[in-house]
Amino acid sequence: MRHLLAIEGLHPPQIGQLLDLAESYVLLTRSGKTQRDLLRGRTLINLFFEDSTRTRTSFELAGKRLGADVINMSVSTSSVNKGETLLDTAATLNAMHCDLLVVRHGQSGAPNLLAQKVDAAVINAGDGTHEHPTQALLDALTIRRRKGRLEGLTVAICGDIAHSRVARSNIHLLSTMGSRVRVIGPPTLIPAEAGRLGVEVFHDMNAGLAGADIVMMLRLQRERMGGGSGGLVPSAREYFRFWGLDAAKLARTKPDALVMHPGPMNRGVEIDSAVADDPARSVIREQVEMGVAVRMAVLDTLARSGANG
Ligand code: NCD
Repeated sequence: MRHLLAIEGLHPPQIGQLLDLAESYVLLTRSGKTQRDLLRGRTLINLFFEDSTRTRTSFELAGKRLGADVINMSVSTSSVNKGETLLDTAATLNAMHCDLLVVRHGQSGAPNLLAQKVDAAVINAGDGTHEHPTQALLDALTIRRRKGRLEGLTVAICGDIAHSRVARSNIHLLSTMGSRVRVIGPPTLIPAEAGRLGVEVFHDMNAGLAGADIVMMLRLQRERMGGGSGGLVPSAREYFRFWGLDAAKLARTKPDALVMHPGPMNRGVEIDSAVADDPARSVIREQVEMGVAVRMAVLDTLARSGANG
């Protein structure tokens, strides 16, 4: 594995190995240890053309826990031509001999383009509506630790599927690992390709949540809706009534179903605070912890498979 650009195309053993390695990093971190010799002398650049809290911080922490030199570059796309900037930036980064390049970009495919232009191993930290592979891996690790497996589980992904790279990466990963994936949302927010992705589509929360083992809630990605969200979703209050997860809707799932959310949450829009903060059901904070471990595993794997090394 030279880059991590997408989940689509990964095979079950590759996913399994990344999760096993991440599991070992959960245990290492919980025991208060680091492994700073692993990436000593390597340079990791976080190149974020879009906002991020969890993802950027956790890549930074992961890199530092493995001993890499970590540099954060926040790039504004507002005033410049994106194509030119990206290629110029790639040339600059190449000249700096960076080993690992973590990229978030508003355009689907931007990390793939960079991967062709730089010598570093490129990790996609979210590109447009395409993929967010490390999010799917951390979600899978969270599920596997709680449920002991991924195969045979019914996972309901709810809300704005159309604009969600998290949903796309999760659909690929969970289907590859043998889960049954349902997507639930209003017709305006379910992508036309849903059928091709092999998921079951529901337009009713009560029907879609029935018997689910896992419920993943998604934010309304208004910034990707182009021209405002008016045509695609009703008011926030109405959206919550139909598509927001509250205790009544959660009661349709299995009694031990887990509630997940990649963050950032919009409380009262796609999820009720009482559910999001319920320690018996919500694993949202655990997802963040797993994020660091998964990113350590990805950095470790890519560094071993030899970019610049
Ligand atoms: C997601 C993203 O940026 O794709 N957040 C994240 O990385 N945890 C989801 C979102 O923005 O809603």
